[in-house]
Formats: sequence, C-alpha cells, structure tokens
Amino acid sequence: MNKENENFEMLAKTMYGFESILADEVKELGGTEIRPGNRAVRFQGSLEVLYRMNYYSRLSLKIIKPLAEFNAKDEQDLYDKTMGIDWSKIMSVNQTFVIDSTVHSPHFKHSHYVALKVKDAIADRFRKELGRRPNVDPKNPHIKVNVHISNNRVSLSLDSSGASLHKRGYRKGHGMASLNEVLAAGLIVLSGWDRKMPLIDPMCGSGTIIIEAALMANDIPPGSFYREYLFHNWSNFDSELYKKVISEKKKDTSRDIQIIGSDSSTEQIRVARLNIRNAGLSDLISLRQKEFSKLLPPSPEGIIIMNPPYGERIKHDNLVELYKEIGNQLKTEYKGYKAYVLSAKPEALKFIGLHPSAKYILYNGEYKSLFQEYELYEGSRKIRRDKD
Ligand SMILES: C[S@@+](CC[C@H](N)C(=O)[O-])C[C@H]1O[C@@H](n2cnc3c(N)ncnc32)[C@H](O)[C@@H]1O
Repeated sequence: MNKENENFEMLAKTMYGFESILADEVKELGGTEIRPGNRAVRFQGSLEVLYRMNYYSRLSLKIIKPLAEFNAKDEQDLYDKTMGIDWSKIMSVNQTFVIDSTVHSPHFKHSHYVALKVKDAIADRFRKELGRRPNVDPKNPHIKVNVHISNNRVSLSLDSSGASLHKRGYRKGHGMASLNEVLAAGLIVLSGWDRKMPLIDPMCGSGTIIIEAALMANDIPPGSFYREYLFHNWSNFDSELYKKVISEKKKDTSRDIQIIGSDSSTEQIRVARLNIRNAGLSDLISLRQKEFSKLLPPSPEGIIIMNPPYGERIKHDNLVELYKEIGNQLKTEYKGYKAYVLSAKPEALKFIGLHPSAKYILYNGEYKSLFQEYELYEGSRKIRRDKD
C-alpha cells in the first residue's frame, strides 16, 4: 500500500460523454498525468488526491486503484496469475471482501465464474501462507476488488469508493424518472453555467438538476452528506490526512443566486421539496408548481436546463405536442436565455423547432440521449420560419 506522499495510478469512472469535463475536474483536484479514456479518466496522485476525488468530485462514479494488469488465456491462467499476487500486502485476513467483475471477452464467458476464480485465488493465497482465509461479504465488504477483462487483458483494481459516488445521500424521495446525480452535474458543467446567472429547471421532477446546481454554486462538496468510503478500510488509511482534505473547502451560501425548479405535478414538487430539504438547500432553491407554458422567466437573462418526459409512459402525439409547446414557450418568453434540453427521444427534439447551437450524445441509463443547446436570441423565431 502506498504511503502518504507517494504518487500512484488511479482511475475515475464516469459516464459516456463526460470524459473531458472529468479530466478538467481531476486537474482541479490535484491529479497529474491525466489521460481521458472511455467512460473513465486515468491519472496519477497521492492518497490525498484519492480522498479529494472521492469527497469533491461531482463527475466521478467511482475512484479505483489499479493493482495489476496481465494477459490471461483462460480461467486457470487467471487463477494462477491472481494467486501470484501478495494479497496480504493489500488486505488483512480478518477483513471481508468481494469481487466485482466486468467481462468483454470471447475467452471468458461468465463474469460470475471469473469473479469466483479471482475469489478462490485470493482465498487460496491466504490459506497457503497463513493457513486461513478471509471471508466474503457481498453486502458490506471491507475490501472490494474489481476485475475487468477485455479480450485477454485482465485488470485487477481496488475500489476506493464503495457505493457509486452518484449516491450522494440527499435523495429520500424518487421521482418518476429521476436523473442520476452525476448525469445532472455533468449537464450543468457542459452547459458552461457561470454559477451566477439564474438557473431554471422547468420540469424539475425530483429536483436533481437544481440540487446539483445549488451544491455547485455554493461550493457544497457532494461528499458532505454522510457516506462511507471503502478506503477507510485500507491498511494505509490516514485519518488525519482525510480530515485535512475534507476541511479544505468550506461551503459558501452567502451568494445570492437564483435557482428555480418547477413542475406541473404536485407530487413531483412534493418529492423535490423533500430532497431539497434533505440536502439542506431549502433557502437556496425556490420551487413552483406550474405548467411550463405558464412559467415566466424571473430575469431578462439566465439558463434553463431540463429533461422533459421522453416517452415510456407518454403517447407519441402527446410527446410531439409537449416538445412543440416547449419550443413555443422558449421562443416567446425566454429570449435572452440559453436553454439545454436532454432527451432520450432525439426524434422528439426536432419538434422544439429551434436550431441547436451545440449537441452532445450522452446516456441516461441505457437510453442513448441527446443534450442540445439553444441560444434564444431575438431572431430565433425568424430563423425557424426561414428553415421551414
Ligand atoms: C423525466 S422527468 C424529470 C426528472 C428530473 N430531471 C429528475 O431528476 O427527477 C419529467 C418531468 O416533467 C414534468 N412535466 C411534464 N410535462 C410538463 C409540463 N407541461 N410542464 C411542467 N412540467 C411537466 C413531469 O411531471 C416530470 O416530473
């Protein structure tokens, strides 16, 4: 295990499309030799950076520490090479552990079987050396080992986070289609919001976008809601260093920033209010219960970020009407604003009837989605007529 000042390799996992904004965040939080990859960013850093990433990163799902990489031709080879690692340097025999496996390979068909082989190899290595083995605890393990196999290439890593970091801990009530918190934070970062202008989510559902915006704007770390990280169980855990890291940045709620959530559903507004209260943000976010067609802007300029319904429970005709209505409202009432719309129904977005000035492909769970930017300047309506 690495000492306090030693740098080592880490990998922050994120969502598709957020690799470069996460790379910027890693840099800000002290990582070096930053290399964005596929749904992940690799970097170097000390234990301090590992703690900081877990506590302050808004765009990471997990921070993992690679342990070993090797080629394996089959399960036996995987077992032998995993057994070759001195696991007593990584965990104690008295700790519980679990294996998490992801397999993309024609040579290893069952990720369950891969996990079993790695578990056996670790247990057998301990048994060979100490005559006894650590127990497996699938629910609340002290140590989580990730196995990732791509073709013949095996990567073994230690999960420093535990539960995914999108589970901030403030969400008590779920909406009909609540966004993942990391996805919501990423939308805000992609929008380039300056954390000063008014920000509105007119279809706020359970409030994820407005809550993440209020956390960002007031420098409230996502880790400040109680949660346990697995690095607390590592033999090199340095509680003084961790205390230092979490007291580095203080929240600042003295700024006067308008963050507004609105939704047509009374039930969704109730859920949003509950989540906002749990996040301690009741004084920093205002809520309205309104149809978007009746919601007027609070100021001449601002930013809208929204995630309208996308069709699982809504009929096609209603969806077309809804997106047309969104376009009309933006064009007539929100001139001077920038609007960002995330939809898992890209074909519905064209009914907004505005030219997007930027487009991002993202994933909302398994749904391939588009996140589009619209600049609502005075000529918006004219441009649409020209195109039609
Ligand atoms: C996909 S959900 C938004 C989920 C939200 N981003 C979250 O994280 O919980 C869409 C929301 O749009 C609301 N909605 C649908 N039609 C609306 C309208 N015409 N005006 C305002 N809100 C509307 C629904 O009540 C629902 O809460």
